[in-house]
Amino acid sequence: MDRDKIVEEWKLLYELGIVISLTTELKKLLHVVLTAVTIGDGLGFNRAAIFLYNRPSNTIDGVLGVAPDSIQEATAIWNNLKNLDIRGKMASWLLNEINIEAQSSSNFNKSISQFRISLGKDTVFKNIDQKQAFIFDLSSLGSDDKIFQELQFEQFVFAPLISREQPIGAIIADNFYNKRPITQDDIDTLFLFSNQSAIAIENLMSIETYKNMSKRLIEEQQNLIHQKHIFNLGRAVADITHEIKNALIGAIGFLERARKISDSDSQVFKYLDIVKKELDRVYNLTLDINRYAKGQNKSIKKQFDLEKLILETIETIKSINFPSINFITNLSEFAKYIYGDPDQIKQVLINLIKNSTEAIANKKGGFIKISTYKEDKFIAITVEDNGGGIDIKFLPYVFKPFYSTKSHGTGLGLSIVREIVQEHNGVISLDNFVGIGAKFIIKIPNMVEEEKNEKKDNGS
Ligand SMILES: Nc1ncnc2c1ncn2[C@@H]1O[C@H](COP(=O)(O)OP(=O)(O)OP(=O)(O)O)[C@@H](O)[C@H]1O
Ligand SMILES: [Mg+2]
Repeated sequence: MDRDKIVEEWKLLYELGIVISLTTELKKLLHVVLTAVTIGDGLGFNRAAIFLYNRPSNTIDGVLGVAPDSIQEATAIWNNLKNLDIRGKMASWLLNEINIEAQSSSNFNKSISQFRISLGKDTVFKNIDQKQAFIFDLSSLGSDDKIFQELQFEQFVFAPLISREQPIGAIIADNFYNKRPITQDDIDTLFLFSNQSAIAIENLMSIETYKNMSKRLIEEQQNLIHQKHIFNLGRAVADITHEIKNALIGAIGFLERARKISDSDSQVFKYLDIVKKELDRVYNLTLDINRYAKGQNKSIKKQFDLEKLILETIETIKSINFPSINFITNLSEFAKYIYGDPDQIKQVLINLIKNSTEAIANKKGGFIKISTYKEDKFIAITVEDNGGGIDIKFLPYVFKPFYSTKSHGTGLGLSIVREIVQEHNGVISLDNFVGIGAKFIIKIPNMVEEEKNEKKDNGS
């Protein structure tokens, strides 16, 4: 490359670097990056696509492809850009003028965004951890590289996206329409630009994950508040109707007496009769409301597979919020089954695990350990973490409703846990290791075992 060309290239990369750093939304950033790769005043390729590494599923997922759908469309776009003369104003053009909707609706993008392949397959993507870009043609593809044949990538550049030494995906670009041969300069420039883009993409991905996480946590908190409200409301209604019912029983009793001592032909008797009928109606209504209010809080208990519930809960938490959390399980086969309300026990697990995830959030090497074991007539479940434990001065308050040391906590998590455990005739305790971690221990009566023993005693 001669000196002028090098200067030109650095100017271009500098300008693109500014655009990238000014883009604050992931979707827009991906469009900006691929538009820069495909406009003549940018890197000048005809088509480009971004693929990202999906760590939880260990797959490569196509996320965006930018290309005209036909040679006519390509020519129209190029002519249009020539007339606009965006040289020197590329930054503001990229930031403000990209037609995201039009780009997204191309057939090329549809094919790319449906693409997903396991990283273990024989494809060009096995090169994503390489610190260089490659040029591929149809003869050098892997046996699982069908997408490139389908989209007729005859010769293309494969540039890994590496951020902080870690592969996060790749950009692929070719000259499908004008068939301009790809030069070494093209490859080098795309590689430099990919590296520049990778850091920005990864930053915005982290921010987006964080935003989703916060949204979920807020939703969960609102759920908890709602649950607690319903719970309290149900209890209050049950208490009030109980009192009304008692008062009515007294009133109806005296009414009966008054009716008995009055003359059955008298006007008083007729009035008392009407009052009795009305009070009976109120009494029945009170019974219904009382039954309903109690029913709201009544748990539906049965024998269920505790181990399965724990593993499912971990999976859910991992897949939704915290894919990278290190969960350790130590589940005893003697504590596989438990008698209780699976929905409520799941709530217990979620609330405890949520606290642990919050405790280890900024900790390197953080883990959450969930164990079960059988102890006398109890099944024990423990949730333990190494998030530093609870300051001694807060210990007396942690189970109290609305007590929280978190800026966004409602402080209901542990109080709901305790209520559910008590509702199961169980006990909850805490082993707190200040500076190390906290371990919550729940013990629920082992009704399954008791039932078996009873059956044995009865000889059945
Ligand atoms: N595993 C844990 N490690 C350290 N501190 C904990 C742990 N679990 C609970 N705590 C402390 O106990 C307090 C009360 O917990 P609780 O779950 O009831 O409420 P919260 O987590 O603050 O809010 P919410 O669960 O309603 O969002 C927490 O604010 C925190 O200080
Ligand atoms: Mg909590």
